[in-house]
Amino acid sequence: MKRPLNKSLLSNLRCTACKSKYESQKIYTTCPRCGKILFAEYELEKAKENILNLENRSFNIWRFSEIMPVINPKYQYTLGEGWTPLLKLRRSAKSLKKLFLKDEGLNPTGTFKSRGLCAAVSKAKELGITKFVIPTAGNAGAALAAYCACVGAEAHIFMPSDTPEMLIAEVRMFGGNITLVDGLINTAATLVHEKSIELNWFDVSTLKEPYRVEGKKTMAFEIVEQNNWEVPDVIIYPTGGGTGIVGMWKAFNEMEGLGLIGSKRPRMVSVQTEGCAPIWKAFQKNQTKAEEFDNASTLAPGLRVPKAFGDYLILRAIYDSGGTVVKVTDAEIIRAMNILAKDEGILQAPEAAATYASLDYLLENKFLDKSEEIILFGTGSGLIYPHLW
Ligand SMILES: Cc1ncc(COP(=O)(O)O)c(C=O)c1O
Ligand SMILES: [Zn+2]
Repeated sequence: MKRPLNKSLLSNLRCTACKSKYESQKIYTTCPRCGKILFAEYELEKAKENILNLENRSFNIWRFSEIMPVINPKYQYTLGEGWTPLLKLRRSAKSLKKLFLKDEGLNPTGTFKSRGLCAAVSKAKELGITKFVIPTAGNAGAALAAYCACVGAEAHIFMPSDTPEMLIAEVRMFGGNITLVDGLINTAATLVHEKSIELNWFDVSTLKEPYRVEGKKTMAFEIVEQNNWEVPDVIIYPTGGGTGIVGMWKAFNEMEGLGLIGSKRPRMVSVQTEGCAPIWKAFQKNQTKAEEFDNASTLAPGLRVPKAFGDYLILRAIYDSGGTVVKVTDAEIIRAMNILAKDEGILQAPEAAATYASLDYLLENKFLDKSEEIILFGTGSGLIYPHLW
């Protein structure tokens, strides 16, 4: 694997709400002043100098290491995450001329969660952390366990007791310590918070530390580079905790700061399910925050997130981009999984298939133009969901 060319130009952390600034080489979780989400900031002007020198750059999340958080290259751990293919959909394209699927199922743990946990664990290891804890709806747990195995750290995973067996088994195989929780991811998150204080475990809950989102943002860098530095018209993303949408939205602003793209942004479409649609509900009411969704239930475990800590950032990306939110049923998800598998040869996770299932609604409501470039995020492999085959 080629080594990345350039050193990180991480400059500081900044709160996404109160805008307070913090130094970057200290351990932070959320903003000490207001408790909201911290983002990493970089010296973009300086990074501009060499960013388009693509020779010798690695094909993983450290490709543009100037705008990644690890300072010492020795902590740029990798299991080969990222640089996944952007596949053109043909037989299933519903007369859309440029419909693509970014196949995140090819990541080392089978989902895009590999990217975020690779970045977070690598950075935390650089800062001396060796014990991690996470609440998960499913796939983030396996990713944490895998990267902890990679760096030689301890992984503690709290997940709902009714999580599909394969997702639990994957965590176990990577050596993660599992606690099954009677409840959903938010109940797991409360327990994790208590444990993190009691046992000094580092809490890598979605958006409650600044660096998972840095791994996720690489998805946007990749689709733009794979598309000859053109920004697509529409991105359709399945939304649970929201790091995918939030990370990519951050990335587009950084890419503009780096001179890689202009002011065009894709319209960001969030997809949720009938059984758990807090962001959809907030969007209907034009709200900037989401209320907790009661009795959340869906066969797509990653979308069973009744209250997202980053709701305000998810909604901000959707509103600012001129996007929208669609909800689909579990039956539509199963149909979409079958169409992608049988008409395209692409076996996707139910969360990922939900993006394909949203197309009928978006076409009927004239949100999409047939000639637009549209990217579905295939966030995970269907191989870890054999119970749905
Ligand atoms: C396969 C898959 N897709 C999508 C999501 C939702 O992603 P996010 O939490 O970034 O909104 C998850 C979350 O667990 C997932 O596992
Ligand atoms: Zn703050």
